[in-house]
Amino acid sequence: MQISVLTRVFTSLSFGFLLMACAGNKKNMETNSNTISSDPHSWAGHSSARVVSEHLEMQVDFEKKCIRGEAELEIQNQDDADSVFIDTRNLKILSVEDADGRAALPYSLTLEQPFIGRGLKVEITGRQSLKIMIRYETGSGADALQWLDPQLTAGGKMPLLFTQGQAILSRTWFPCQDSPGIRFRWTANVQVPEGMRAVMSADKQSETSKGNFHFEMSQPVPAYLVALAVGNLSFKAIDERTGVFAEPEMLDRSVWEFADMGKMLKAAEKLYGAYRWGRYDVLVLPPSFPFGGMENPCVTFATPTILAGDRSLVSLVAHELAHSWSGNLVTNANWDDFWLNEGFTVYFERRIMESLEGKDYADMLAVIGWQDLQATLADLGPDSPDSKLKLNLKGRDADDGMSDIAYEKGYRFLCSIEAKVGRAKWDSFLKKYFDDHAFSTITTENFLEYLDINLLKPNGIKQDDLNIKTWVFGTGLPKDLKAPVSLRFENAGKLAESCGKGEIPEYEQVKSWSSHEWLFFLRNLPEGLKIETMEKLDKKFSLTKSRNSEILFEWLMLSVRHKYLAAYEALEYFLEHTGRRKFVLPLYRELVKSVEGRDLANRIFAKAANSYHSVTRGSVESVLNIPNKN
Ligand code: BES
Ligand code: ZN
Repeated sequence: MQISVLTRVFTSLSFGFLLMACAGNKKNMETNSNTISSDPHSWAGHSSARVVSEHLEMQVDFEKKCIRGEAELEIQNQDDADSVFIDTRNLKILSVEDADGRAALPYSLTLEQPFIGRGLKVEITGRQSLKIMIRYETGSGADALQWLDPQLTAGGKMPLLFTQGQAILSRTWFPCQDSPGIRFRWTANVQVPEGMRAVMSADKQSETSKGNFHFEMSQPVPAYLVALAVGNLSFKAIDERTGVFAEPEMLDRSVWEFADMGKMLKAAEKLYGAYRWGRYDVLVLPPSFPFGGMENPCVTFATPTILAGDRSLVSLVAHELAHSWSGNLVTNANWDDFWLNEGFTVYFERRIMESLEGKDYADMLAVIGWQDLQATLADLGPDSPDSKLKLNLKGRDADDGMSDIAYEKGYRFLCSIEAKVGRAKWDSFLKKYFDDHAFSTITTENFLEYLDINLLKPNGIKQDDLNIKTWVFGTGLPKDLKAPVSLRFENAGKLAESCGKGEIPEYEQVKSWSSHEWLFFLRNLPEGLKIETMEKLDKKFSLTKSRNSEILFEWLMLSVRHKYLAAYEALEYFLEHTGRRKFVLPLYRELVKSVEGRDLANRIFAKAANSYHSVTRGSVESVLNIPNKN
């Protein structure tokens, strides 16, 4: 079967119109006016035919750096559509067959859309249900995948592969209907080189024979939550429900750091109901992992930069765990509703930390988050549409909307509802919200309606009393909003102020500080510090040598801002060995503010680019004005 290309000229059309133009079948369009067709980042809404389950047979080839696979997709086509649309991007489609009987099925690929890729349109001539088998191979533009050479791993001997699907990258490693509003069950058999272990975001995992692994996810999940990692990975249990996967070199440290995972899980369940995914494990990846954490069901993928050695950065685990409710159980319908995933999760994360560590601790997290939010708002400028909770990402990369607005403005909005109705009512509302929407999808508008019916009206509260329209559809923050305060930061704030006058804190004054107090202190140092003060601080507290990634990052930001050259060797090392975008990107942004800084940034990037995952590389490229290859 030859691949034909849909030859319509799409370029001048908006994507929404483009969907209509290609739908080919009026009936499809009409039945498709629900959540799916409003996802501008997926081809799937082109037809009402849905993937309900998917089986993957995959071979992982470290030599060629590709995955070869056969994907069997079970399609349900209740509205007699003529075709089904599957998302692909930089994926080589080798054949498409009817899985029972193996007859070739006619198919075509749409033209490539930036970020979105090509829709694989398979003719199914109105059949109500069928299975299609797609043979495929990943290409060099498989942006979900990062193939790490051995020198980028802790062991240094075996290579390692991991995937990162969110937001719209799953389509680069397997054909799928890649919209958060479409859920399917899946199974997989993965063949890997001998001596390696495959880990997937599944509730059942087993090694069937040497190098062959079987996985099953029995709950329906969206495609962005399907994940795979392969490498020299071992496992150690923490308790009966939680544990850690990591390279052997990292295992004991990780198990120690995350010892409280079982407690977090119990605290989360006590708040908002049973955990519905079986086990909860964390996979600690090498430092090139582009995020702090990714909430892949059953197995959170995490950066090793949270291994501070004192358990002070584990709120990140609470965050990813919280996604087992907000995000994985109740999912944003499309990426414009991203705050429903992240705002709820930040709220839930802080409630988990409050149960474990007390209110003072959660207040510190809230203040740090507030500072992040203020910085993001300042960057975006007043009136930026990207400072709305409900976004409009049509025509842009879905990743563009993923800022602190969703996280921290979302968090503050939920706090304001809690403050209005009181914690007890708010908690029972949230528990019911998760139960009522379990394993389904929700839009912002549906959430507001649900909120009105189930919480506001019964308590005699009007939407206007809560400024709902301003919070959700307005830019910036409501005017009367007060900054949160933290008692535990009082001291660090005062000491930071004195530092502006050249007074360096005494050891005694900082000896009980955790990561958070240090962060607050560094962030609150007045602008225009004397280099002398930087030197004194560094000499006394060895900040350039800090092994705590959050503290080191903050110090390196200050160093670039103040041109404190003594830290530049550490800066270079950090940028070459860490791929976490939250750290890497602001440092490059700070560097390019000066001419010499820009040269240095280019020089470092030339060395480091190959060790970055595509999402980090792409973001840095736009800061450095380097044209993106894809
Ligand atoms: N789901 C996100 C990571 C993500 C967001 C990946 C958007 C791709 C697109 C994850 O839950 C997350 O928010 N991670 C944060 C940590 C958190 C504690 C704020 C991170 O990676 O820093
Ligand atoms: Zn998150």
